[in-house]
Amino acid sequence: KGKIIILGIETSCDETSAAVLADGTDLRSHVISSQISTHQKYGGVVPEIASREHSMHFRPVVQQALDEAQVTFQDLSAIAVTYGPGLVGSLLVGVSGAKAMAYASKIPLIGINHLEAHIYANFIQQKDLQFPLLALLVSGGHTHLILFEGHGKYEVLGYTRDDAAGEALDKVARTLGLGYPGGPQIQRVSQEGNPQAFKFPRAMLEADSLDFSFSGMKSAVLNTLNSARMRGEVLSVPDIAASFQEAVVDVLVRKTLMAIKRTGVKTLLLAGGVAANKLLRETLEMSLLKLGIRLVYPEPIYCTDNGAMIATAGYYHYLVGDFAPWTLNAVPGLSF
Ligand code: KG4
Ligand code: ZN
Repeated sequence: KGKIIILGIETSCDETSAAVLADGTDLRSHVISSQISTHQKYGGVVPEIASREHSMHFRPVVQQALDEAQVTFQDLSAIAVTYGPGLVGSLLVGVSGAKAMAYASKIPLIGINHLEAHIYANFIQQKDLQFPLLALLVSGGHTHLILFEGHGKYEVLGYTRDDAAGEALDKVARTLGLGYPGGPQIQRVSQEGNPQAFKFPRAMLEADSLDFSFSGMKSAVLNTLNSARMRGEVLSVPDIAASFQEAVVDVLVRKTLMAIKRTGVKTLLLAGGVAANKLLRETLEMSLLKLGIRLVYPEPIYCTDNGAMIATAGYYHYLVGDFAPWTLNAVPGLSF
């Protein structure tokens, strides 16, 4: 009784997910319905199919989350939903559904920025995070270094000028015939590869820039593959994968260390799907240990898209009364 209970809903890409969170840290239920197997045969997410799948799974996923948490709509304090960035048709399923349920239940609606929520995934298991925090957000659509100075207070220090890190991994994986999503596949086959086999370029941009660029690095791999093909040579897929993974992680780590030096923060948060990458975690862990910087990352299930991170971000919006109007709409290009 008297608890703040938030239903969090995520439908921005290919996961329909809902979670019930009590008082910010007590995750009562978490349901994820992934469409990965549906999209796999097309080599990537097909937006039209994604919308239809969300429409089909939305209500059952929400009901399961409520049932597992042993609550009804009457027990909820608010409903938090991702309104961007993402695929417009997918976002609309979540936004419309959340709006209808909140309106009918006479409780507030909270609009959540998906990027912010990825960072909040770190608050699900860590109860003692102290601001200021630095966040490295690496997902399929975004690569950002963010100075996080307090709840709702962000400064973007750097972002990708072209491809996101996950996008580059996905594209290289697809060319290597490894399937979708590519990041986990690259990680898997890299275990049998030599990361020194190919010297792929590291795009560092201007000396003081915290921005990223992965498009040229991706093209270097594709060019290597094409010229080998023309010479009739077959290159080792594990060697290519391991060398590319090494190059991507190298750039992410070097830029992150630059940002730590510049800001003087004592804690780094990893966020987004690529934060699940083992090499990235281990390399950062080693570098940061020497500097006395704490590294925090969510369990893999909270790194990729999920409703628990939406509910967690929603809790902090709830505390300051940051509610959305009933006119809330999907914003596919939403940024920080
Ligand atoms: O955060 P996310 O689930 O969706 C977006 O908001 O984009 O991130 C998906 C991305 C994909 O590019 C996927 O290949 C990548 O995260 N990813 C990984 C790993 N697991 C997921 N990349 C590298 N290593 C992994 N273990
Ligand atoms: Zn995401």
